[in-house]
Amino acid sequence: MAEQGGLKSAVRGPLGRTLLFVPAVWLATRYALPLLGGWLASDDWFSMKHNLASAGLEGTLYFALALLGWSCWLAYNEQRWQQFLAPVWEFFAWKHPLRAAILVVSPLAAGAMALAAAGGGGGPDMFNAIRHPTPPDAFSHMENPFRHPTADMLEQFDAQLSSGEIVVNASTEDELVAYAGVLAAGGVSNDADRRRAFERHSIEQGRELFMVNCRPCHGTKGMGDGPMAAAQTRSPADFTGVETIATLVEGAVFWRVKEGGVKLPREGGPWESAMPRWELDLSDDEIWKIIMAEYDLAGNAPREPEKLGGH
Ligand code: HEC
Repeated sequence: MAEQGGLKSAVRGPLGRTLLFVPAVWLATRYALPLLGGWLASDDWFSMKHNLASAGLEGTLYFALALLGWSCWLAYNEQRWQQFLAPVWEFFAWKHPLRAAILVVSPLAAGAMALAAAGGGGGPDMFNAIRHPTPPDAFSHMENPFRHPTADMLEQFDAQLSSGEIVVNASTEDELVAYAGVLAAGGVSNDADRRRAFERHSIEQGRELFMVNCRPCHGTKGMGDGPMAAAQTRSPADFTGVETIATLVEGAVFWRVKEGGVKLPREGGPWESAMPRWELDLSDDEIWKIIMAEYDLAGNAPREPEKLGGH
């Protein structure tokens, strides 16, 4: 009978509260926070599609902090701490077959859960995300305006070079310096040189933006090895080699940069990707220039749209 009373007060006491608090915080960090973050990060207020990118890590941190706080609350008062422990000692002193059953079943259950979490027991991986989901139609046919400049853009470029609005100095790309020299000398500009100079200039501007915005994750050379790379759930893409941007038309890259991880379709695994949604911080022109620099740094060329679909 003694343990009956003990159990009853235990449920109302610190142990019972712990058994309510811990799962509640776990549910909040695991589901409520990512959903809230997803809603805030996307315009999709009424759909539950977008979870907060990388929420797994934040959730674990919040949960750990909450547990730490709760342990302080438990241990801070000696009487409360003893109340918390009492039912545990009582349980071990409990001469009942149920005690043996619980002591055998709980480690087995924990083991089974760990095995399931590690992907044991077969069955498909739930988060088998597709590396390159199809971009929305509006994007796949886009062209990079800085790779295919109009006559107007080139005229303007000449004017800016002549007026000194585009500054040419020691760190400027060679092609640009040479072309500026020809222009300044009043030489007739050769269209190929001009396009080449324009391209190098766009790359130069894009590279500056890349170093500020993208380098932290994607690395100085775009190899996915920036200082923040190790902290990401899914590794930042390595732009060198044949598996990432080399397989994509520029419109697809533009989509990935503009809309980032949160706007990936479900099969793309938005819950795993911390790739920021750059439309919030960068203009379209800036993104296109960064893409020029991205290919240049990685020594890659974009996939040509006309090669798609067997044309
Ligand atoms: C916080 C880290 C982070 C930053 C900063 C970041 N990215 Fe990413 N990026 C990622 C991660 C992680 C992935 C891989 C997951 C994915 O594809 O969404 C990725 C993927 C990409 C991809 C897709 C490549 C492919 O082949 O699918 C492109 C393109 C890209 N990033 C470009 C950029 C550009 C351009 C910038 C800067 C304007 C940038 N990223 C900044 C983390 C980052």
